[in-house]
Amino acid sequence: MGNDVDPLEDAENLIAAGRAGEAAALLGRHIAQGRGGVLTRLTLARALLLAGKTTEALEMSRETAQLYPGVAGAALALGETLLAAGKLPLAIAEFQRALRVDPHLAKAAFLLGCAWLEAGEPDWALREFARIPDYEPANLLVARVAEAESLKAAARSNPRYVRHLFDQFSIDYDERMIGQLSYRAPATLRELAALVLPGRKGLDILDLGCGTGLAGVAFADRAARLDGVDLSPQMIEKARARGVYADLAVADLETFLEEEGCAYDLILAADTLVYLGDLARVFAGAARRLKKDGVFLFTVEKKDGEGFELGPKRRWRHSESYLRETAAAAGLDVTGLIAASPRNEANVPVEGFAVALTALPH
Ligand SMILES: C[S@@+](CC[C@H](N)C(=O)[O-])C[C@H]1O[C@@H](n2cnc3c(N)ncnc32)[C@H](O)[C@@H]1O
Repeated sequence: MGNDVDPLEDAENLIAAGRAGEAAALLGRHIAQGRGGVLTRLTLARALLLAGKTTEALEMSRETAQLYPGVAGAALALGETLLAAGKLPLAIAEFQRALRVDPHLAKAAFLLGCAWLEAGEPDWALREFARIPDYEPANLLVARVAEAESLKAAARSNPRYVRHLFDQFSIDYDERMIGQLSYRAPATLRELAALVLPGRKGLDILDLGCGTGLAGVAFADRAARLDGVDLSPQMIEKARARGVYADLAVADLETFLEEEGCAYDLILAADTLVYLGDLARVFAGAARRLKKDGVFLFTVEKKDGEGFELGPKRRWRHSESYLRETAAAAGLDVTGLIAASPRNEANVPVEGFAVALTALPH
């Protein structure tokens, strides 16, 4: 293939033939000679991305978006590259910028909707999808709308929303929780443990939604082995740095509990179950993974009356009657249930419960 006549066409042919690296080299040489416009640069960014050169692709699409601020396609391409690089908030900002430049750019609305889905915001995703009813390929839009609808209907927080939220929060989680919100769920669970597990040490402990490890630290002196699981890789990294956990897994706790693995004397969930509405699956999973006489200790926020509900801060609240019924259905005995506030909000203690469930003999 020649490279003087129409490098863009040559590059497109190379990309179509699965030779994105060669396409990138060809277009790179062209641009280095001071030739090629916005389309050449965008094709180069795409080729670099396809060739797995994400950092170079980011550089090229960033530079292009800066050079051509009035070109919606440049912001769109930067958004796509950022999305591929896992930089979700920045990708969302670029898709929004593309739509400000050209409100009819259907691909930007579609990808913005996909990015909102990725961030666990199905309502915002549906709002974007509604702007582009004629989007092609239609089957992609139909599938994404269905995904958003099912996330909306789920009786639990979306894992992608939780991961995104806590990846962001991980930076100053401890300072904000302890300093600003007077967070006390680990200390409360420690007090409840003194009542339901008096004097027991050398325990195999699993920390569900371990976050940065505050509950792990509170229980480390009682542990023979301490494992943790959390949806957020960044929170897990903070927990790892504490050096108190044996195994740390990035996983959804519902799935994790259903897998084959160690049995535990104590399972903890400090301020974690506020991200689950229906607790049937986690109680059944905990019952499976507890040893005989094992205890599941957790905090929740309180709902008056019956059942559970999603609160205005997007945390779920559970009623005492729901907790008792669901525990019984999972074969767990309520050995402790006390009123306990996990934290403050606007300087007011949030009402909640600290609960101890004990595995009934198998
Ligand atoms: C408020 S933080 C509490 C962290 C820690 N337990 C503590 O006491 O500081 C809630 C944690 O639960 C995690 N989480 C929420 N839902 C989860 C799920 N379904 N599976 C695993 N982790 C989850 C979040 O990622 C977050 O790190």
